[in-house]
Amino acid sequence: MAALLPRLPKRIRLTPSSPTHWICRTCQQRRAFTPSSTSPQTQQQPPRPNQDEARTTHFGYETISETLKASRVGAVFSSVASNYDTMNDLMSLGIHRIWKDNFVRGLNPGIQGERKEGQRILDIAGGTGDIAQRMLDHATLVNDDKRTHVTISDINPEMLAEGRKRFGNSPYKLAKRVDFLEANAEDLSAIESASIDLYTVAFGIRNFTHKDIALREAFRVLKPGGVFACLEFTPQLSNPVLNGIYKRWSFGAIPLIGQVVAGDRDSYQYLVESIERFPSQGEFRDMIREAGFLIPGRNGIDEEGGRMGMGKGWEDLSLGIAAIHKGVKPV
Ligand SMILES: C[S@@+](CC[C@H](N)C(=O)[O-])C[C@H]1O[C@@H](n2cnc3c(N)ncnc32)[C@H](O)[C@@H]1O
Repeated sequence: MAALLPRLPKRIRLTPSSPTHWICRTCQQRRAFTPSSTSPQTQQQPPRPNQDEARTTHFGYETISETLKASRVGAVFSSVASNYDTMNDLMSLGIHRIWKDNFVRGLNPGIQGERKEGQRILDIAGGTGDIAQRMLDHATLVNDDKRTHVTISDINPEMLAEGRKRFGNSPYKLAKRVDFLEANAEDLSAIESASIDLYTVAFGIRNFTHKDIALREAFRVLKPGGVFACLEFTPQLSNPVLNGIYKRWSFGAIPLIGQVVAGDRDSYQYLVESIERFPSQGEFRDMIREAGFLIPGRNGIDEEGGRMGMGKGWEDLSLGIAAIHKGVKPV
């Protein structure tokens, strides 16, 4: 329960019985507030928490300072990196492959015909390169496009190292159709504005500290007409009975599989808790719209025969366990 409650800023704890004193977290001393008669120059003030430290966010079910979130998430993915692909198969019973195939097919990456340039795709939180591999395969094999390029970007060097291993000396690597960028999705200053045709993020955005900032960065780097596409778990299934069964599975089995296979229960506990904290499909669609995007299926841009969540602006997968959201940067 304590973990759910917001914490006071790290450096200051007021003692409940004596609000005129405070405990200095640096020197661990009990310090008194100086009487108001002291001149302003000599008056001893308790250290002021900086604003970022005072702001809190979720880390699974814990409430932590925003400044700690990226490093806590980083520790999770550093720990799971080497087992990540195997664990994905075990935890989802292989279904994540079907979702990712569906996600990529729906985006139809690559350009047919004799154009000089292919698409520039940015796969954010790209980790081990699962999405990038599918994008390049689809562009090459379905659209006969050997120019489309994917940048795999991730905040975590260990996850990127797994991605680099995957592409090794593959034809995509040799043809310079894939590269890697270590970056926080909330600060893509390494990427020029209006330079990207397609921005993808699969099972990554729920880990970001400021999803709204990441969405604005996505908007900035996309060309007018460029597409934002996100594949992510949803917090609740609409059918309460199925939701109960699914939650029993995810909270019971996934941390256990993490413990047995990867020797790391806590990271997998975080992964299931972080799903619960992610906004609902409707809330997330509204966040995408607030970042400036047009929402397919709501603005008459790309109704796809009503497949996108029956005109709600997203597509549910496997009874709504996961969903695909898209946004288009206005021309
Ligand atoms: C569950 S993995 C998904 C990997 C890959 N997209 C896939 O579908 O298999 C989540 C990834 O998000 C990355 N990540 C978390 N926070 C991030 C941030 N703020 N910016 C960029 N990547 C982040 C993690 O390092 C991790 O590689």
